[in-house]
Formats: sequence, structure tokens, C-alpha cells
Amino acid sequence: MQALDLLLNRSSFNQLGGPAPSDEALNNILKAGLRAPDHGNLSPFKFIVFKDEALNDLGEIFAEAAEQENAPAEKVEKAKNMPLRAPLVIAVIASVTQAHKIPEIEQIITAGCCVHGMQMAAVAQGYQGIWRTGEFAYHPHVKSQFKLKSADQIVGYLYIGTAKSQVPVKPNKNISDFVQYW
Ligand SMILES: Cc1cc2nc3c(=O)[nH]c(=O)nc-3n(C[C@H](O)[C@H](O)[C@H](O)COP(=O)(O)O)c2cc1C
Repeated sequence: MQALDLLLNRSSFNQLGGPAPSDEALNNILKAGLRAPDHGNLSPFKFIVFKDEALNDLGEIFAEAAEQENAPAEKVEKAKNMPLRAPLVIAVIASVTQAHKIPEIEQIITAGCCVHGMQMAAVAQGYQGIWRTGEFAYHPHVKSQFKLKSADQIVGYLYIGTAKSQVPVKPNKNISDFVQYW
């Protein structure tokens, strides 16, 4: 896929099944994440890869977090199954250095760029994906299970897999609605 074609037509897709990215494709996805623009070269990111049995482990962590919130049984069950919506989930963490001359928001933006770059790398290799957050990106139990520092942020879970059906083509937004020339 041509780079510009990818940039101009990228979209998310949530109907994901197997096959998961091959080891080589996953490696490329992770390497694309590492190419995120990074002010001060702090590398303020960390990726946790969940596939196969690890997806069930992630579901357990989500379910425990839901239980801690006294969620009803159906919601706990739903939380447990969330990671099974794709054969590969990458948790992307902003590994924030506090009280640094590079503001925390810039470090978090870098981690966000990682997600975007990884999604693009997935699509470029024939896979599809969707960036998700939801309450389990912010829950202290999840952060603690991931052994994150208190300033760290889970910026998202990137779900990646093979599209189960045709990816719909989304209409383009109008440049003139968002851009002005000074
Ligand atoms: C930070 C962030 C968090 C998101 N969290 C969710 C989410 O939890 N669930 C969801 O369905 N979409 C979520 N989205 C939106 C999807 O990733 C996607 O962008 C959206 O469905 C629009 O599709 P598009 O990317 O093709 O325009 C999130 C997007 C961002 C940037």
C-alpha cells in the first residue's frame, strides 16, 4: 500500500478476527510505534502485547476491576470478554517522566502517536485495528496489574486482527471545514 494512500484513507475497524499479525508483521507494528515523534528523546512509551492465552489474562484483569466497582455480573462477564474482540491487543502506556522540561502532555501525545503509527503499520500490512480506551484504561487495578508508576497513563488498547468483513469506506471530511489559511 502506498504511504499517501494509507494516510488519506486510514480508518478504524472493529470487526476483527484471526489471523493475528504474523511475528514479522507484529515486529513491524511495534517498530512503527517506536518511530513516534519524541521531544527530548525520552521514549515515554511502553507496549504490552496480549495474544493467545494472555488475552484471557487481560480479560481477568478487566473483570477484577469491574468487580471492584461492584458491577453487576453481566458487566463483569462483558469486561472479561472484551479483549477477545481481536486476536491481538497492545496496551500502549505513556511512561511519563514528571517534573521534566518536556511537559507531561507532550510525553502523552508521543504515546498517542505510537498508537496511531502502530495502527497504520497494521493496516499497511493487510490487517485492521481500532484504538480503544474505556474505563479499564483508567482503572487503578489495571494500572497496578501492569505494574505502572502513578504518573503513567494507559493511552489505549490497540485491537488488531484481520477484518471479518469488507471495511466500509468512510466519507472524507471537508478541508474547508477545518482549515483556514492565514
Ligand atoms: C484516545 C481514543 C480512545 C478511543 N476509545 C474508543 C473506545 O473505547 N471504543 C470505541 O469504540 N472507539 C474508541 N475510539 C475511537 C476509535 O478508535 C475510532 O477512531 C472511531 O471509531 C472512528 O473511526 P475512524 O478512526 O475510522 O475515524 C477511541 C479513539 C481515541 C483516539
